[in-house]
Amino acid sequence: MSTIIKAKQYLLNNYATWGPVNLNYDTPEATFKYNELEYDLSDANLLKPGEILVESIHLSNDPAQKGWFKSNKDSYLPPSPLGKPAPARGVGKVLKSNNDKYKEGDFVQAHLGWTTHSIFNADEKLTSKLDLSKVSKLSQFLSVFGSTTLTAYVAAYKYSELTPKDTDRVFLVSGAAGAVGSVLVQILAKDFKPKKVLAIAGGADKVKFVESLGPNVIGIDYKSSTYEEDFAKALGDDKIDVFFDQVAGEILDHASQYLKTFGKIVQIGAISGYNDPTKSYFKNYAASILHKRLRIQGFVVIDDFKDSAKIIAHLEELFQNGTLDKSKFHETIVDATGDNFVKIPELWTGLFTGTNKGKFITTVAKGYD
Ligand SMILES: NC(=O)c1ccc[n+]([C@@H]2O[C@H](COP(=O)([O-])OP(=O)(O)OC[C@H]3O[C@@H](n4cnc5c(N)ncnc54)[C@H](OP(=O)(O)O)[C@@H]3O)[C@@H](O)[C@H]2O)c1
Repeated sequence: MSTIIKAKQYLLNNYATWGPVNLNYDTPEATFKYNELEYDLSDANLLKPGEILVESIHLSNDPAQKGWFKSNKDSYLPPSPLGKPAPARGVGKVLKSNNDKYKEGDFVQAHLGWTTHSIFNADEKLTSKLDLSKVSKLSQFLSVFGSTTLTAYVAAYKYSELTPKDTDRVFLVSGAAGAVGSVLVQILAKDFKPKKVLAIAGGADKVKFVESLGPNVIGIDYKSSTYEEDFAKALGDDKIDVFFDQVAGEILDHASQYLKTFGKIVQIGAISGYNDPTKSYFKNYAASILHKRLRIQGFVVIDDFKDSAKIIAHLEELFQNGTLDKSKFHETIVDATGDNFVKIPELWTGLFTGTNKGKFITTVAKGYD
C-alpha cells in the first residue's frame, strides 16, 4: 500500500477586498490558488513534536470567512497568511500523530483550511477532540454543536439580557433561515414562549422553513416586492422587544423604526454588506436609536468559547426535555470530494446567494457520513 498522500488545497493568493472574492484563476489577482502537495507517511520526520496529520472530512462555510480572507488589521483575528490554505473551520480524522493528546483514528475539530490534508501543531491551533457518542453523524459537530449554534445560544440567553421567563415578547430575527438564524428562531419560539417571532428569510420555501421551526413564528420574505407591507401586517399593532440582526443594511434600517422605546438590537452580523459596503448606509437607523433610546449589543462568539462545555450541557438538557428538536437543526451539505474539490471557492460563494437552509457544509472526503 502506498504511503504517499496527495493533498489538494486552495491557498490564499491575494487578500480579498470589500467586493466579491476574485475566482478568475487565470489572473494573478485571483483571491485563491489551487495547489497540490504530497505527504509521505513513511517519513519519520514528517511530524514535529506536537503536530498531527489530519484528513479533512467536512468544512464549514461561514460568512465570517470573508473577513478572514481580508488583511483587515482591525479584525478580531490576525490576518491569515498568504500562500497558506484559505482559512476554514472543519472536522477531520487524525491519520498520524506526534502529540500525546491525539492518536491515529481520533476525530477532531480545528481551523483546517481549504485543504484535504494538513499538518499542524494541535496545541497551538484551536483544536478539540470529538466525542462521537454525542452525535448521529459527524457533520453535526458543525451544525447541532457548531459555533453557529453557540452564536444563536449566546445571542438569545446572554446578549439579549432576556430570561425564558420573559414571555409574551415580540422578537425579530433577520437571516432567519441560515445556520445561526434557524437555531435562534427555534430557541426563541420554544424556550422564551413569545407572543411572536418575526423571521425574515429570502423566498417562499425559506419562509415555510422558518415557520416550521416553532410555534408563533411568522416568516417574512425580504425578496418579495411587498416586503414592507408584509412586515407591517405580520407585526400588526405590536412593537419589537428585541431585534436579532444578522444582515444590517436596508433590513436593519427599516426595522429599527419598529422597536419599542428602550428596545434592544443584538447585532450578530452584517452580511448584506460583506461583499458590498455601499449596502451599509442608513436613513432611519441613527434617528431610531436616538428617539427610541435603543440599546445596541454587538458580540463575537469567540469570547464565549470558554463557556462551550456549559452551553453544550444546557443544550443537551433542552434536547432531552423536548424543548429543542435536534431534527430541526437543518444542514445543507454540498459535495467537494474527489475531482469536485476544485469547486470549493465557488460553492462557498453560495453563502451570499441563498444556497443554504440551516448550516452550510462542504464535504471533502468520501466514506464518512
Ligand atoms: N457575532 C458572531 O460571533 C457571529 C458568529 C457566527 C455568525 N455571525 C454572523 O451571523 C450571520 C449569519 O451567519 P450564518 O453562519 O448563519 O450564515 P448563513 O447560514 O449563510 O446564513 C446567513 C443568512 O443571511 C441571509 N442573507 C444573506 N445575504 C443577505 C442579504 N443581502 N439580505 C438579507 N439576508 C441575507 C441568507 O438568507 P436567505 O437565504 O434567506 O437570503 C442566509 O440564510 C452572518 O452575518 C455572520 O457573519 C456572527
